[in-house]
Amino acid sequence: MKTTIAEVGKYVGQVVTIGAWLSNKRSSGKIAFLQLRDGTGFMQGVVVISEVDEKVFEAAKSITQESSIYVTGEIRVDERSPFGYELGVQNIEVIQEAVDYPITPKEHGVEFLMDHRHLWIRSKKQHSIMKIRNEVIRATYEFFNENGFVKVDPPILTGSAPEGTTELFQTKYFDEDAFLSQSGQLYMEAAAMALGKVFSFGPTFRAEKSKTRRHLIEFWMIEPEMAFYEFEDSLKVQEEYVSFIVQSVLKNCKLELGVLERDVTKLEKITAPFPRISYDEAIEFLKNKGFTDIEWGDDFGAPHETAIAESYEKPVFITHYPTSLKPFYMQPHPTREDVVLCADMIAPEGYGEIIGGSERVHDHDLLKQRLEEHGLLDGAYKWYLQLRQYGSVPHSGFGLGLERTVAWISGADHVRETIPFPRLLNRLYP
Ligand code: 4AD
Ligand code: MG
Repeated sequence: MKTTIAEVGKYVGQVVTIGAWLSNKRSSGKIAFLQLRDGTGFMQGVVVISEVDEKVFEAAKSITQESSIYVTGEIRVDERSPFGYELGVQNIEVIQEAVDYPITPKEHGVEFLMDHRHLWIRSKKQHSIMKIRNEVIRATYEFFNENGFVKVDPPILTGSAPEGTTELFQTKYFDEDAFLSQSGQLYMEAAAMALGKVFSFGPTFRAEKSKTRRHLIEFWMIEPEMAFYEFEDSLKVQEEYVSFIVQSVLKNCKLELGVLERDVTKLEKITAPFPRISYDEAIEFLKNKGFTDIEWGDDFGAPHETAIAESYEKPVFITHYPTSLKPFYMQPHPTREDVVLCADMIAPEGYGEIIGGSERVHDHDLLKQRLEEHGLLDGAYKWYLQLRQYGSVPHSGFGLGLERTVAWISGADHVRETIPFPRLLNRLYP
């Protein structure tokens, strides 16, 4: 019977065969402990000299790290391991012997590991982070499908730049210039007018020369957009969505959180509603915290966000930023000229901004004026302005960065570990 590590619980007391790789091994003269992995999970195989053919024990002793094997044995309950089962090995068939696998159990530098990312993703910690990423993706689809949203896929090759024109990857589109999408938002606004509540989930590109633990050049973003939703309505969706994905990971990724030694008591507290603090209040708070040279109108950097987040156990919304700091499409505050109806959601524990969102300008003339002020009133945005001509309604939306969210939930130090093959400032390989 051929099975996988994930399925062994169904075969206790039975003999099964698993296609696996050897991730690590310990052996003495009489017994060998094989750490097996097969992609679906990790488990220990035990080979006892007195219980197997001589050549099987020899194979167990000589087998090298990352060699591929078919291993056959009896599934036993093992209460000492978090996984709960072990394999009493009876036979080993080597498929391919791996010679000098570069990533040994000793410590390696990050650059070395990044150069070997194609192999590094096999390690237990990286495997766990990828599984958590997968659960966040799964829970995202569940949340939006259960709440009446329609998945819409905006284009990746675009002619416009919603988040400013300085961070674009330009490419030739036959005789025209095109850009890789830095946000699907403008298209999602059009889609919301057709389908009501929509969400996208796709790759996003930012030619940003930032080298921080929160920045990727290519990252994945979830962008919901909702017709007839005003600013506060959108905040409610955001806190419910983020609570849902955290609770889903807690429920479905216990082993992985254990491997990562994540403090789950911190995650258990992540339930809606989340606290809110206005930009004005945040400036006062920071001044009192010793950031003496920050002034109203300044943007927040990572140290500011971290200082604010430290006061809360849950993610916090910073609301109503100055108009001058934010893109052209944000709806002005009803009674104040200087701020817009927007919010950034800041994750706890120093992980920074995971969501940016706002109510959108829906008045035709105001949007036209805004586009003009930003020098964007050209052909590329004509269609977008036209949305405000035919049954324009209040609407809101937001974008959640997948990798920053996974970094926070899994406790990873850097977003580079939360995407299989990160694109970074100086890294296009592997
Ligand atoms: O705040 P941003 O730039 O917002 C937008 O793009 C809006 N158009 C979204 C919308 O309203 N539909 O990006 C949204 C989120 C950030 O909060 C962050 O989590 C993530 O995307 N993000 C990045 N993640 C990794 N690397 C980068 N360089 C990122 N830039 C933004
Ligand atoms: Mg932002």
